[in-house]
Amino acid sequence: MDQQELTTPDRRSVMQVCGLISLGLLGVPTLVACGSDDESSDATGGASTAAAGAAGTVLAKLADVPVGGALVTKGADGKPIAIIQATAGAVTAVSAVCTHQGTTVAAASGELDCPSHGSKFGFDGAVKNGPATTPLAAVAVKVDGENVVSA
Ligand code: FES
Repeated sequence: MDQQELTTPDRRSVMQVCGLISLGLLGVPTLVACGSDDESSDATGGASTAAAGAAGTVLAKLADVPVGGALVTKGADGKPIAIIQATAGAVTAVSAVCTHQGTTVAAASGELDCPSHGSKFGFDGAVKNGPATTPLAAVAVKVDGENVVSA
């Protein structure tokens, strides 16, 4: 009898243990969440670094980019970009995601046109015609042999 009394926890002991477990269970995810936030902050910063780290990714053949025109393709991050070859061998690039509502713009004569609502952008990304008001972001590219690569 005495041994059974010693091994059978009373209600107070059970509640204390449950309380400690609850605190422990609540505390661990809180710490994990805090650590997670720190990690995602670092990951975000790392993403920028990673994008820069993707330098050298082949984006297009230089021969596929018309001289005096543009080729819309995917950037190193998989998002649409427009590669422009103003003169033979001189390439630049801008995001091809319309800053109005995100439609992919199309290469046109001397500009990039958005088929959704008619915004027009210069090859430098500047807004020529709205409704977009924000220019297309520049994308770093360079010529590497016969390819256009991310810089
Ligand atoms: S999404 Fe391009 S003009 Fe509206």
